[in-house]
Amino acid sequence: MSKLEKKVAVITGGNSGIGLATAQTFKNEGAIVVTNARNQQRLEETQADHGDLFDDVILADVTKVDQLESLFNSVGEKYGQIDVLFLNAGIAKFLPIEHVDDGFYNAHFDTNVRGIIFGVQKALPYLKEGSSIILTTSVVNQMGMANSSVYAATKAAVRSLAQSLSAELVDRGIRVNAVSPGPIETPIFGKMELEQEQIDEMAQGILGKVPLKRFGTSEEVAKAALFLASNDSSFVVGAEIEVDGGMATLG
Ligand code: NAI
Repeated sequence: MSKLEKKVAVITGGNSGIGLATAQTFKNEGAIVVTNARNQQRLEETQADHGDLFDDVILADVTKVDQLESLFNSVGEKYGQIDVLFLNAGIAKFLPIEHVDDGFYNAHFDTNVRGIIFGVQKALPYLKEGSSIILTTSVVNQMGMANSSVYAATKAAVRSLAQSLSAELVDRGIRVNAVSPGPIETPIFGKMELEQEQIDEMAQGILGKVPLKRFGTSEEVAKAALFLASNDSSFVVGAEIEVDGGMATLG
């Protein structure tokens, strides 16, 4: 029997990187998989590129509470409930503290923290006993990495949310956990507004801190997300699973 047979899974940020690999992994295990797209153009691209993978692609920018509400209401109305909620959408940029401005701060906190707090709130009416919420943190929330102050702070907030929301939802039979990726080869590095040379330099610096001496793959993170989504992790609550080549604990 597949691990997620007929389970309804909503993955935010499902059209790229870790979210996309997880969507495929969940689909392979029998899930009905729904994702969001932040604007009409991305929605059309996602439908064109991954139309077979997703049962639905719904317009929702995770920084907009009303759009999160309509995303989950649409899923609830169509499927009745949500069994797996993978709140994975996120952005990551790195700047020295002197260069951080209001817009940079807001973009990170609105996407990475607001998107999760209100994502959970708006999905809650459709999360029933036995459902699983998975949040994506990052290895940087446990490390001091220069230039990551804003991003790392958002992910430390998400780690805290995995614990506090666990405590709040455990009696309703809803488990909350987090997956904490180390460096994973995804399109996120191309979105950092850095020159290729700077990206390469950063990658070399990061590699030096990874005991397994390589970047991870999105599929490796997806396997951890599958564990947390399925009944295999029935006794795991409020945990953060590191998929980081040993970076946080041995690095
Ligand atoms: P990615 O850039 O490939 O995917 C990010 C996804 O989030 C995309 O689908 C994007 O459209 C979506 N997204 C961003 N802002 C959005 C918004 N306002 N509304 C709706 N969707 C939005 O990046 P990747 O690497 O797959 O990242 C996924 C998660 O993993 C993020 O939370 C990231 O912070 C985290 N992470 C990634 C690491 C890496 O090395 N790739 C390391 C640690 C954490």
